[in-house]
Amino acid sequence: MDTTTRKVNILLLGSGGREHALLAKLADSPRAGELYVAPGNGGMFGLATRVDLDPASPTEVTAWALAHDIGLVVIGPEAPLMEGVADACRSAKIPTFGPNLKAARIEGSKKFAKQVMGRAGVPTAAWRSFTDEKSCLEYVGRIDGPCVVKADGLAAGKGVIVAKDADEAAEGVRACFSGEFGEAGSSVLVEEILSGPECSLLVLTDGRTVVPLATSQDHKRAYEGDTGPNTGGMGVYSPVPLVTPAELDEMVEIMERVVAKLAADGIPYSGCFYGGFMLTDEGPKVLEFNARFGDPETQAVLPRMHADLVEVMLACDRGVLDRCMISWDDDWAVSVVLASAGYPGSYETGKPITGIEDAEALEGVTVYHAGTALDDDGRLVTSGGRVLAVTAVAPTFEAARERAYEGVGLIDFDGKFFRTDIGMKAILGRDGQ
Ligand code: AMP
Ligand code: GLY
Repeated sequence: MDTTTRKVNILLLGSGGREHALLAKLADSPRAGELYVAPGNGGMFGLATRVDLDPASPTEVTAWALAHDIGLVVIGPEAPLMEGVADACRSAKIPTFGPNLKAARIEGSKKFAKQVMGRAGVPTAAWRSFTDEKSCLEYVGRIDGPCVVKADGLAAGKGVIVAKDADEAAEGVRACFSGEFGEAGSSVLVEEILSGPECSLLVLTDGRTVVPLATSQDHKRAYEGDTGPNTGGMGVYSPVPLVTPAELDEMVEIMERVVAKLAADGIPYSGCFYGGFMLTDEGPKVLEFNARFGDPETQAVLPRMHADLVEVMLACDRGVLDRCMISWDDDWAVSVVLASAGYPGSYETGKPITGIEDAEALEGVTVYHAGTALDDDGRLVTSGGRVLAVTAVAPTFEAARERAYEGVGLIDFDGKFFRTDIGMKAILGRDGQ
């Protein structure tokens, strides 16, 4: 058989809503052979076989993939990237989607990301980094006003404190250096505070060609009106109507410039590259980069995408992304996250979930699982903070939003908690922010 149309067995690493959305798209491809997932969640086992291995262990992943004729390893979350799983798979000649460790540092170290941005001339908040608490406290004292304090390394979205005054900033600095965010807090960044609407732009790249995906807007705070603590993301919509064509061009150009700068530095980036932007009065500025698909952005972006995802991912790995075609539905997508009461703090698990089939019977509605599991009796129960993402795709933004919330209303579990204002920013527009 022609190697360009041969079916490939795929091992997907991860267990979130993002991975469920990736799996659904991979399963749609005519090139998808056997599908495996490690560790997966309660909604993925109808599409893929569960594999019992540590997704962040380079040796376990490569050994299993080699033994099972895997032709594509897809790395969903950041932790395996930061452990060098992509490097190990590529060394073992297994085609892999996701950047190698050196490139993934663009997410793993905020300081490294800022340095690359500086060298590439990318607009971002002014910053300084500190490795000792005393000088960091002195610095935020001197600013004596609003600023943003960030733990340098990975902190699962928790190591960012947007401080409105010097006291809050000092509290953030102390939290970072106290070890609350683990190793992530041993180096701390203090940043200028920016304002404006936020927009995520995910691109696919093989290190040379950059293909932008549709824009999306996450809702990071836990409660209505963007209040409460930061979370992994409580809901998302795509595309983002308030982004102007000029802003989109600038964002794409920034992503291209960073990929080119990394390549020039001998760090080719292969995979999904995520830019988190703030659309300021001076133009889009970068808040952060991630080395992977966003969660929940993926649950709103992928359902509108027309492409053979297996083909596209293999092309990223091989450096032939320029040969791939990607197009988009004219529809809109809105995705609402259902979380467990208490998230992002502590929450209970093991609560039976009902109504998913009813929600999915609605036109255009798909329910992506995140923190779900099957209990000993085979019942679907909650097992995490973010439990499900209810995505609706419809010809108008309002219809997509309504349909998503209709789906949310049909699903139930003890402690179900969600934001009721996902997508309101798109309806209110820029002045309503
Ligand atoms: P990050 O993980 O760096 O994207 O930060 C998480 C969230 O904190 C962002 O989505 C923003 O809402 C907010 N944030 C981060 N950096 C800044 C900044 N420089 N100015 C204002 N808000 C920020
Ligand atoms: N939704 C934010 C992220 O994936 O980092």
